[in-house]
Amino acid sequence: MIPKVKFYDLSAAGRKILNENEVCTFYFDRDNLKARGGMSHIHEQTLLSGRKVATKGLPSDKPLNPENVFYIANEAKALCELSQVKSHPNIIEYYGLVRLGERPYVVMELLDEPQDQSSRSLGSPLPVEEVLTIGLGIAKGLHHVHKHGLTHRDVKPSNFVGDKLIDFAFCWKNGQPIVVDGHQHSSGTPGYFSPAILGGSEPTIQDDIYSYGVALFEMLSGKAALPPGTDPVISRNILGSKIADLAICRGLTPEIAELLFATTQTTPEFGVMRENGFFTSCRDIVRFIKTLINVD
Ligand SMILES: Nc1ncnc2c1ncn2[C@@H]1O[C@H](COP(=O)(O)OP(=O)(O)O)[C@@H](O)[C@H]1O
Ligand SMILES: [Mg+2]
Repeated sequence: MIPKVKFYDLSAAGRKILNENEVCTFYFDRDNLKARGGMSHIHEQTLLSGRKVATKGLPSDKPLNPENVFYIANEAKALCELSQVKSHPNIIEYYGLVRLGERPYVVMELLDEPQDQSSRSLGSPLPVEEVLTIGLGIAKGLHHVHKHGLTHRDVKPSNFVGDKLIDFAFCWKNGQPIVVDGHQHSSGTPGYFSPAILGGSEPTIQDDIYSYGVALFEMLSGKAALPPGTDPVISRNILGSKIADLAICRGLTPEIAELLFATTQTTPEFGVMRENGFFTSCRDIVRFIKTLINVD
């Protein structure tokens, strides 16, 4: 028999969107498996009210050790902080954290079209207008994250679904994990790290912005921008020349090339590419993209 889901740490989770009457028995098998991430499995669940939600939890073959549990709990805490007042249209909506036996699961909005932007764009570049629309939404979502004093630390196309930002497992607040458990936790994904992070610095807003620029490049070019772990100085040169090549081969406007340069050249030692300085906030990126496409 599959035990009934119990609430877990909901007092700390703030907004209580699921209520006891709505909860049903959750199932975790192949039939309702929606997607597999590097760390997790996403399952579709139907509540007693008929409402569909998604659960994100550890695959059954992953040991239930503190490090693995940390990623689920840390994501729940981050999403909870971000949805305290109201949910943001560009961030996956959080419903709660539940526990089945000892296994924790984040309960969240079920995305109808779960294909992430990495699997859509790798090998087949997306149209420029579409990348700008996705980029606008993600910059708005990321600005919301930064306004709360958080850094996402894993910005990349496989964590964009439509124009929503997902996967807050690596999210930090004030330079440390949100769930502090005394363990050393690795960060993000090599290939998207900024030169500063590769050099050993603490991740900041600028590093999220750098990864965002690399993500835009990937969606526009259909190729990963940099081999994982590329030396910081080399990566700056490779990326700069790849952006210039991309601009020529796809006929990008100078403004779009500037957007790519100004997001990925983030540290003063690597030069300032925009006349008014590089982008230091996602709000500036939102304003800039709005001048390039027709939106309200
Ligand atoms: N709420 C959701 N609804 C539907 N599919 C989702 C949802 N969240 C994630 N996915 C799918 O699952 C994949 C992995 O999710 P993610 O949160 O990135 O897990 P991981 O931390 O393991 O990388 C995503 O790329 C996406 O395709
Ligand atoms: Mg992910």
